[in-house]
Amino acid sequence: MRNPLNKKVTSLTSSGIRRFFEIAAMIEDVISLGVGEPDFDTPWHVREEAITKLRQGSTFYSPNAGLYDLRVGIADFNKRKYQLDYDPKDEIIVTVGCSEGIDLALRTMIDNGDEVIVLDPSYVSYIPTITLAGGVPVLISLDEKEKFRLTPEKLEAAITPKTKMVIISYPNNPTGAIMEKEDLEKIAEVIKKHDIFVLSDEIYSELTYTDTPHYSIANIEGMKERTIVLNGFSKAFAMTGWRLGYALGPAIVINEMIKIHQYTVIAPSTVGQYAGIVAISDCDDEIEYMRTSYNQRRRYLLSMFESMNLECFEPEGAFYVFLNIKKFGLSSNDFCERLLREHKLAIVPGSAFGEGGEGFVRISYAYSIEELQEAMNRLKIFIDTI
Ligand SMILES: Cc1ncc(COP(=O)(O)O)c(C=O)c1O
Repeated sequence: MRNPLNKKVTSLTSSGIRRFFEIAAMIEDVISLGVGEPDFDTPWHVREEAITKLRQGSTFYSPNAGLYDLRVGIADFNKRKYQLDYDPKDEIIVTVGCSEGIDLALRTMIDNGDEVIVLDPSYVSYIPTITLAGGVPVLISLDEKEKFRLTPEKLEAAITPKTKMVIISYPNNPTGAIMEKEDLEKIAEVIKKHDIFVLSDEIYSELTYTDTPHYSIANIEGMKERTIVLNGFSKAFAMTGWRLGYALGPAIVINEMIKIHQYTVIAPSTVGQYAGIVAISDCDDEIEYMRTSYNQRRRYLLSMFESMNLECFEPEGAFYVFLNIKKFGLSSNDFCERLLREHKLAIVPGSAFGEGGEGFVRISYAYSIEELQEAMNRLKIFIDTI
């Protein structure tokens, strides 16, 4: 029989995170700080809107680009929060999570053999989706000493005549790093000089802990026309299971993204989109409450690491800390595997996010303070014994 499988697919490796959590699921009383998912429920009035719409029979397809009122809500939110100006008529598409936006943007913009620059470490879906789109991932290794930010020098050095795009994502998963306006302005110069494009995954844009709010690279002069901004409802609105996200970009790109979307998913769930309208226009207080809670937990973890003499880069966004474990002389995988088997604490090896993550572990603080306290007790016992 012929091999039924596509070579690009068989060449992909399964996510290192999944493997780890399969082991964790078989051990009793495990505390897991592994998943990048808010522990809060979706705000009640958002859920109520979905229930109402279901009762009213809103069970039909929506327009391919998404409900117009939701696109208006998304445009207003991005204008109000980040001073981004996008036309709901043709510069916004509602997607099945930010995940679909990543895939659509890559498949729309990448031709076979185009190079796409990816930061290492980075979110696990970029390299597989680039590969499936026919692109060639080119990695830039980030440095803890540079706060895991992309520097113009590193970007310049990675660009070749085949480079089409760079993917950036700040606030960042897994490092918790952010990039400020001045940092983005420097890399924007390099991007414009080489006439390349940016996929800016800003899914954690509402979760920053500094005095200045999130700033989008699309705001910089000359960048809107070469940037696709991706965002969604999963993190800020605690809506992971609703599978709702969006992309903002130039009409010529969004139009083509809609073609793929139309032939593959048609549109996200209509009821979910109605809930999204309420979320994006009426959840400022809930977002602030969750952000404040994450910040308390972040501070708690940082203070615990200090008391344990663990060196830790201060994350200023998202809900992760990326802890340096190099002094223990174990690979990040061995460190996490021993911590899991010997002390029933599940965290993610940095190597799951690329070679640049080796020597680090990712700890999510989207968990209650009680769980974090118990986790820190277990971590302390473990590091005292190695
Ligand atoms: C950086 C980043 N982008 C995208 C996603 C996926 O988001 P969504 O649930 O909207 O598909 C995640 C989820 O963890 C993420 O961390």
